[in-house]
Amino acid sequence: MEKRRLGRSGPEITTVGFGAWAAGGPWKVGWGPQSDADSIAAIRRSVEMGMNWIDTAAIYGLGHSEEVVGQAVRGLPREEALIFTKCGRVPDETGTPRSDLRPESIRRQVEESLRRLQTDVIDLYQIHWPDNETGTPIEESWAVMAELQDQGKVRWLGVSNFDVPLLERCEAIRHVDSLQPPYSLLRRDVETEILPWCLAHGVGVIVYSPMQSGLLSGTFSLERVAEDDWRRRSPYFQEPQLSRNLAFVERLRPIAARRGRTVGQLAVAWTLMNPAVTGAIVGARRPEQVEENAGAMGWRLTDAEMAEIEAARHAP
Ligand SMILES: NC(=O)c1ccc[n+]([C@@H]2O[C@H](COP(=O)([O-])OP(=O)(O)OC[C@H]3O[C@@H](n4cnc5c(N)ncnc54)[C@H](OP(=O)(O)O)[C@@H]3O)[C@@H](O)[C@H]2O)c1
Repeated sequence: MEKRRLGRSGPEITTVGFGAWAAGGPWKVGWGPQSDADSIAAIRRSVEMGMNWIDTAAIYGLGHSEEVVGQAVRGLPREEALIFTKCGRVPDETGTPRSDLRPESIRRQVEESLRRLQTDVIDLYQIHWPDNETGTPIEESWAVMAELQDQGKVRWLGVSNFDVPLLERCEAIRHVDSLQPPYSLLRRDVETEILPWCLAHGVGVIVYSPMQSGLLSGTFSLERVAEDDWRRRSPYFQEPQLSRNLAFVERLRPIAARRGRTVGQLAVAWTLMNPAVTGAIVGARRPEQVEENAGAMGWRLTDAEMAEIEAARHAP
């Protein structure tokens, strides 16, 4: 199985990892109904397929995703199922996620995650979003992250949704092992500054929503999206963008088919072509989806195919 090192000193990871947001089940920013049995079967299938990491977060399902991941990986050798989770989003009394990177809060959040995951060490601990709500300087939060690493509670440190100035402020205190940004054929803003900065500084990159949350899977249809699925509120899934995005999928289909691949596999493989990208976090709700998504690993798009994909983006 193809593996790449996460940044200059992180773990060796497969180019596709399992994304466990939907495993949180229904909540304010959930994916509608999701059975734990399906989530656990999907996670176990990802490990059987050779994928060696799972990305979750404390806020997904208000802790439920971490509990499901903990159950799914129980008894498995850790090097076959590295656990990546995130802190910094805490529900208020209505269950709405709020930023909280205050030192005491991070210390409490890590203990709660360790308990839900049924482990005494988290492999990659990531700050989920910058904190624009409590006024905590990032230096104070990142110093606590370094303290958790020194205590052996977490092995590697990452951030998500950070820009270059914030990355620089963290890197000055303790090496940032990874960044988790959004990146897909439909969302490319990180290409200009953020990805090159990561490459230059030995910061690994695990991209999220590489199929734009299912839109680029090649089989997406709004009819199968539950009323309480967050995607119904996302601009990518609103008209007129939705039809435009799905028309783009149709232009990608023959390019993928020529290689015997699905559009979803092509979309994920495309993110892996950027030299800064270490791996892609691909969400899945059932084992069959994982089996297909694993097919994004181990092949590369040619220069000609990359050019064709670029042209398909700009087609009328
Ligand atoms: N750090 C952050 O702020 C952040 C934000 C977003 C995501 N993430 C992480 O990144 C992970 C992946 O992102 P994502 O889940 O938004 O997007 P994604 O990986 O682009 O799409 C995943 C969704 O696509 C559909 N899908 C998956 N495999 C499929 C297949 N083979 N055929 C057809 N449909 C398929 C599933 O939903 P349906 O079957 O319901 O269509 C699945 O939930 C998350 O789980 C999470 O770990 C992090």
